[in-house]
Amino acid sequence: MRDKDLEERKRRSIKTTFRLMTQGMKSLDPLEEMGFSSALLDRERRRLRQELNKGTLNSETLERLVRRSLRWSPRSVPMIPDDYVTLLRILRRNPSMGALEAKIPADSKLAGHIIGTANSSMFKGRSPVTTLRNAMVRLGIDLLKELIYRWVIMDTIFKPQTEEHVTWIRKMSFRAVASAYMAKEIATRVGVSGDEAFLGALLHDVGEPYIVNLLDLMRVPLPHDTVEKTVAKVHEETGAVLLRRLNFPESVCQAAETHHDPVASAANSVSLISAVTDQLLLKYKIMTPPLWEIRETKAPFRLLGFTEFEVEGLLDRFQEILDLVMQEENESST
Ligand SMILES: [Fe+2]
Ligand SMILES: [Fe+2]
Repeated sequence: MRDKDLEERKRRSIKTTFRLMTQGMKSLDPLEEMGFSSALLDRERRRLRQELNKGTLNSETLERLVRRSLRWSPRSVPMIPDDYVTLLRILRRNPSMGALEAKIPADSKLAGHIIGTANSSMFKGRSPVTTLRNAMVRLGIDLLKELIYRWVIMDTIFKPQTEEHVTWIRKMSFRAVASAYMAKEIATRVGVSGDEAFLGALLHDVGEPYIVNLLDLMRVPLPHDTVEKTVAKVHEETGAVLLRRLNFPESVCQAAETHHDPVASAANSVSLISAVTDQLLLKYKIMTPPLWEIRETKAPFRLLGFTEFEVEGLLDRFQEILDLVMQEENESST
């Protein structure tokens, strides 16, 4: 009898250990770590698998999933941790150095990045800086803001979450960063806020990596062309929802919402500048049609008042920016 009890106890303890282990494994699901509930994710994954098995899965199925995902999270912005959301909101309020410093933990990766940039060949002074405060002062508030915006976005939504589409998402982030620096220069030539143009170009396609990461994290083997079609169809509205929740200027949100719409984008200079940088990417074949449903057009250049000769100048300058961003990426990966 005693032996039997012991056996039963052993059996139960093995069962409990196994349950705890699988619970531990389950909590490693990155979507759960982002705050999405496991019951909800199980339901969504089951739904996707069923549609896939029945042969009814198409881009509309995935579009609905993307729209639902924006309501899943108790966080204000899916895929962006709350401390980063707070940092972005503070940046919008033209903070002082002290206010910004208070929100960046001195031992964080971001602090390391700021200090590293202040000591890079482009900014280094006679002596290296070692503290976050000194690095911030050396860079100056405008550059610092750009650096933080770029870091937060690239470290979250633009960060490949699985091995599945690493190359695709890296290309997206390369395009976004190069476009942002080009947009800032275009803005100064046409009398538009450089900050807003920078953010508009950096973020107008933020819906793309969000959708690709989300679908990859569903861990269901989705047909690649269906994923591409979904990205092409809903990246604009998805990006605009994310940016509005992050409280970005309305011109930036509208750039996300309208950059493929020639009529709507014509009314917003930030959107037009993003359309120009997209055209420059097209000319260098960094972005290839017909997937993104944009064709070569001179309209955004014309609407911003650029002559043919000036467009040639923009193309030359963009080549330089592409080289600089490429060089910077190579340096940071070595
Ligand atoms: Fe786009
Ligand atoms: Fe774009």
